[in-house]
Amino acid sequence: MAEKPIMLNRLLLLVASLLLTMVATSNADNTVVKNLDIKRYMGRWYQIASFPTLFQPKNAVDTRATYSLNDNGTVNVLNEDWVDGKRQFIQGIAYKADPNSDEAKLKVKFYIPPSIPIFPVIGDYWVLYVDQDYQNAVVGGPTKLFLWILSRKSHIDDATYNDLVEKAKDEGYDVTKLLKTPQSETPPPTTAEEGSSS
Ligand SMILES: *[C@@H]1O[C@H](CO)[C@@H](O)[C@H](O)[C@H]1NC(C)=O
Repeated sequence: MAEKPIMLNRLLLLVASLLLTMVATSNADNTVVKNLDIKRYMGRWYQIASFPTLFQPKNAVDTRATYSLNDNGTVNVLNEDWVDGKRQFIQGIAYKADPNSDEAKLKVKFYIPPSIPIFPVIGDYWVLYVDQDYQNAVVGGPTKLFLWILSRKSHIDDATYNDLVEKAKDEGYDVTKLLKTPQSETPPPTTAEEGSSS
């Protein structure tokens, strides 16, 4: 008889922790940047840290993204990294998920394989934070499986980095999964977008 309240307590605890987990992982608590100035967001961003993904080899270095506005209002996305000294890149298109929303929720579309575009892969790109000067940014998505910390500089100081990590943590991201991206002292020079495919 005495066991009943304990079991009930346990059940309540279980339900409560399940609910908490659901709240913690739901998309609703993501604060996405409103009225992003897309022109100011264009240009080069270095990947300072990210969650590891299947698309990026573990030993990739100097990972960076270069964004430019297309005539039709979409964004040209050029992602580059270097593996064993060899440049790898993929180009895609980013656009607003909902043109009527003021939130910086973008979709990014790549084709696989890049050389023979057959199979489109569409991902979410939510700008969770960008500083006033558009120098540092935190980018995630609804699943919280992806996270990128980006900067205009290839190296940022610890205080700035920790601040950005804290912002991601506040949004419910498991920042213990973050891996810092190795960046050379001097970033590789700008390369022709088309060239050097293998
Ligand atoms: C916009 O322009 C880019 C670059 O020319 C092109 O790749 C893309 O398909 C265009 N998108 C739309 C929706 O017109």
